[in-house]
Amino acid sequence: MRILVTGKNGQLGKSINKVVNTGNGKNNYQQDNEFIFVGREELDLSSERSISHYFDRSNKFDVIINCAAYTAVDKAEEECELANQVNHLAVKQLANIANEQKAKLVHVSTDYVFDGESNKSYTEADETNPINVYGKTKLAGEKALQAIMLTNAIIIRTSWVYSEYGNNFVKTMLRLGKERDEINVVSDQIGSPTYATDLAKAILKIIDNRDYQDKDRATEIYHHSNKGEISWYDFTKEIFKLAKIDCKVSPITTEQYPTPAKRPKRALMDKEKIVEKFSIKTHYWKETLCSCINNIENKI
Ligand SMILES: NC(=O)c1ccc[n+]([C@@H]2O[C@H](COP(=O)([O-])OP(=O)(O)OC[C@H]3O[C@@H](n4cnc5c(N)ncnc54)[C@H](OP(=O)(O)O)[C@@H]3O)[C@@H](O)[C@H]2O)c1
Repeated sequence: MRILVTGKNGQLGKSINKVVNTGNGKNNYQQDNEFIFVGREELDLSSERSISHYFDRSNKFDVIINCAAYTAVDKAEEECELANQVNHLAVKQLANIANEQKAKLVHVSTDYVFDGESNKSYTEADETNPINVYGKTKLAGEKALQAIMLTNAIIIRTSWVYSEYGNNFVKTMLRLGKERDEINVVSDQIGSPTYATDLAKAILKIIDNRDYQDKDRATEIYHHSNKGEISWYDFTKEIFKLAKIDCKVSPITTEQYPTPAKRPKRALMDKEKIVEKFSIKTHYWKETLCSCINNIENKI
């Protein structure tokens, strides 16, 4: 298959690249497929023209994995139009192109499509109600995709993504923990972290699935994150424990740490559907946090 991966410099794009290029013969994705990784230099999702231009000049793809997104949650409150173009209108355009090319589209979305007010974990069928611009634009992207591609697309919602790459909570805490003696971290927002490598493996396992490749499957949404439910405060304590960082962590409330964008208090997602349909094994969050920190500390 010819597989296009957008967002090559982002956490997920880089993690897919890492998994593809460390195939061990059993899962040798690179040998069985042709992967084309593109960043904004080649395919700028903020420009309708750039998108058309790129696909007009390229051979057809069998699968498009859209890892690119406008992910600056706070900045999106000001840059609504740009966030909407990248997270919504570009996804609509990609869906039309995927339809024309009879390609499959794997699109990544977020737990921020929910308001986080439920006591239960959200299933894919639960009502959405985003409370910030980023969540609204991501939801608009999901809806546009679903309206255009009744078959052959999947949307994977994920949460609290971290990795060895780019800027993320784990890397920020490792840095701050080494610089400071004490740190305050929000303890009343609960979620499930996701190691980008685990999400990358899940996506590659899905597109490698014969059943998924052959049939005109109805477009579906799936939830994927690591197992376990924690606060940012719990997460920080474990990061410091694993990295042997001696820095005091004190819990604070969301009100004590105001941000331009509101965050859902408890956007937990039920992951049964992806496990059942594709036998995706989800790791407990501490297991993969440990691997990621080792990779960061050993500069792998
Ligand atoms: N990070 C999270 O905590 C989180 C949580 C839930 C869901 N998600 C979703 O998961 C997916 C992957 O996220 P991630 O963590 O890998 O995000 P990321 O590290 O911020 O990467 C996003 C990538 O999108 C690219 N991008 C932004 N604007 C673009 C444009 N106009 N044209 C082309 N590329 C553009 C960025 O390019 P540059 O490198 O050039 O800036 C970046 O490489 C996204 O759909 C995101 O919404 C993420």
